[in-house]
Amino acid sequence: MAVILENVYYKYDVDDNTSEEYGIFNISMKVEQGTTVGIIGKTGSGKSTLMQHLNALYLPQKGKLIVGDFVIDKKSKDLKNLRKKVGMVFQYPEDQLFEETIYNDLAFGPKNLGLSGDELNSAIKGAMEDMELDFEAMKDRSPYELSGGQKRKVAIASVLAMNPEILVLDEPTAGLDPKSKNDLLNLLISIKNKRNLTVFFVSHNMDDVFWLTEYVYVMCDGRIVLEGEVNEVFKENQTLKDLDLGVPFSVEVLEHLKNRGIYEGPLHPMRLESLAALIADILRGKND
Ligand SMILES: Nc1ncnc2c1ncn2[C@@H]1O[C@H](COP(=O)(O)OP(=O)(O)O)[C@@H](O)[C@H]1O
Ligand SMILES: [Mg+2]
Repeated sequence: MAVILENVYYKYDVDDNTSEEYGIFNISMKVEQGTTVGIIGKTGSGKSTLMQHLNALYLPQKGKLIVGDFVIDKKSKDLKNLRKKVGMVFQYPEDQLFEETIYNDLAFGPKNLGLSGDELNSAIKGAMEDMELDFEAMKDRSPYELSGGQKRKVAIASVLAMNPEILVLDEPTAGLDPKSKNDLLNLLISIKNKRNLTVFFVSHNMDDVFWLTEYVYVMCDGRIVLEGEVNEVFKENQTLKDLDLGVPFSVEVLEHLKNRGIYEGPLHPMRLESLAALIADILRGKND
């Protein structure tokens, strides 16, 4: 499903006697079906508020969203069919696991959407397989017995069990150890391709965003301050630093090499294999 936002505006009603405004202000986006977009910005920049508009948990006070065939504005009603299509993985989604067995946790959402019998079973099985969770071995186990990484996978599987067409991942790797994090990112890439999903990936980690996404929106104070193809956005090192965001690891390494006078080229992000090859070339004296 494609997603279009036109001047989406949502201001929180807070009375803190300051002139500060909190929320999102006139956000416009155009996301084609099957794209993975990254949303970056420091804490409080409005990323989660924006994401919660995609399945109409918040309705825009001004402007509108067009999600597939659904138009969402301040007067929208009957959003159940939209919510079937937009899977939301919130921060620390495992906090929302509550059933006694993994099967029941995964069944909760699809049952609410009216699935039962074989259809329900195969939705759950498919979601677990996609998350590399062994259906037979795990379905009757308690989600509480699992490791942090496994719990996170179950929580994401419970969203996939509803067969969404859009997947919103709000800081999906927060708090995971490096190995679980890499496993999860690789899984998300293959699921995205297999299910042909449109993905919104919210992250603090610039390397993850560089790795996973094609197009990036950078937010600050509830506004989009920079957007573009991932390679283009990460060329704006100084802008990203001014916004208190990091730069991909490769860019940091290239910067150090440049400061030491052993690298002259541009500070573009690159995959670690390419970075290693470049450093090997420098060592062999091929980069002059
Ligand atoms: N329920 C709320 N009531 C009032 N202010 C809120 C609420 N939720 C978030 N905010 C404020 O809105 C801004 C954007 O928050 P949020 O969308 O959570 O940002 P992010 O996900 O980028 O950290 C922040 O300043 C935050 O404090
Ligand atoms: Mg957030």
